[in-house]
Amino acid sequence: MSGLKHPLISRAIFPVAGKGTRFLPATKATPKEMMPIVDKPLIQYAVEEAVGAGVSELIFVTSSTKRAIEDHFDSNYELESFLKKQNKHELLALVQNVLPQGASCTYVRQSESLGLGHAVLCARTQIANEPFALLLADDLIHHEAESCLQQMVSAYEATGCSIIAVQEISVSESEKYGMVAVEPQANSVFRITSIVEKPKPQDAPSNLAVVGRYILTPKVMAHLVRVQQDKRGEIQLTDAISSLLQDEPVYALKFKGVRYDCGNKLGYLQAIVSYALAHTEVGSEFENYLQGSGRVSKDFSRLQKK
Ligand code: UTP
Repeated sequence: MSGLKHPLISRAIFPVAGKGTRFLPATKATPKEMMPIVDKPLIQYAVEEAVGAGVSELIFVTSSTKRAIEDHFDSNYELESFLKKQNKHELLALVQNVLPQGASCTYVRQSESLGLGHAVLCARTQIANEPFALLLADDLIHHEAESCLQQMVSAYEATGCSIIAVQEISVSESEKYGMVAVEPQANSVFRITSIVEKPKPQDAPSNLAVVGRYILTPKVMAHLVRVQQDKRGEIQLTDAISSLLQDEPVYALKFKGVRYDCGNKLGYLQAIVSYALAHTEVGSEFENYLQGSGRVSKDFSRLQKK
């Protein structure tokens, strides 16, 4: 016996089978999750966050155009021996550590894009009836002391229940998010009383929006099986969580950190600028570039003329 009150969160699901239509044509043959923030793909940030929070089994729900993700986390013998021959040891270590030590990968196919809920259901066998983490890599969350998932693991350890990351938004944006109604609770943790997918602002139950980090108990799978496709033909995870609320408490955590919605162009660009400014190699030069007397607007007008 480990003496732990609740099972460890050792597995994480990464649904990466979406079509990424907001980034076409870039995502025609390349997964959205492989788009870089400066020099690291979105999916690698999510994997590092999961492993940093104690996860060791990484379950990717993929589709036919997502081979690049499998390749990214596999070893690349040819590249490694090339870097060795060139004595590029730092780069070699970088490439060899893309998959963090001790972590293993499983790939499950989602053969039809039937939505996030369906993608999660595809990994039902792999979670082995244990609580699991779920990370949407296009939500990039910058943190100071503890990552968003680490904060959620602490909340899970305190409650033994499902935890959903939420942030305050302007209610006018509610149609882009799952929105929750909550009862107040200790420390940024709230018991969810209802959850609804993309409500109109006048129907939003609060200003708390769900972002792409979850810890879910395995019971959610039994609810997902029963969820019907919505008008767009998708199986919504939100509907399964709403139904799970009838069986057991589910909590929302207002996490500390800055979330970038890299699933849309503006959020992606904002993330690149922030991460580039903080980048050890190019940060200060990039800052000089941005501050340089009207340089950005000059470059911009030159580009516009092309
Ligand atoms: P999104 O709602 O961002 O959809 O999915 P999308 O297809 O990736 O992007 P757009 O809206 O067409 O631009 C949220 C997450 O759920 C995954 C996506 O890969 C993303 O991580 N997803 C979505 C699946 O794995 N399967 C699906 O059928 C739908």
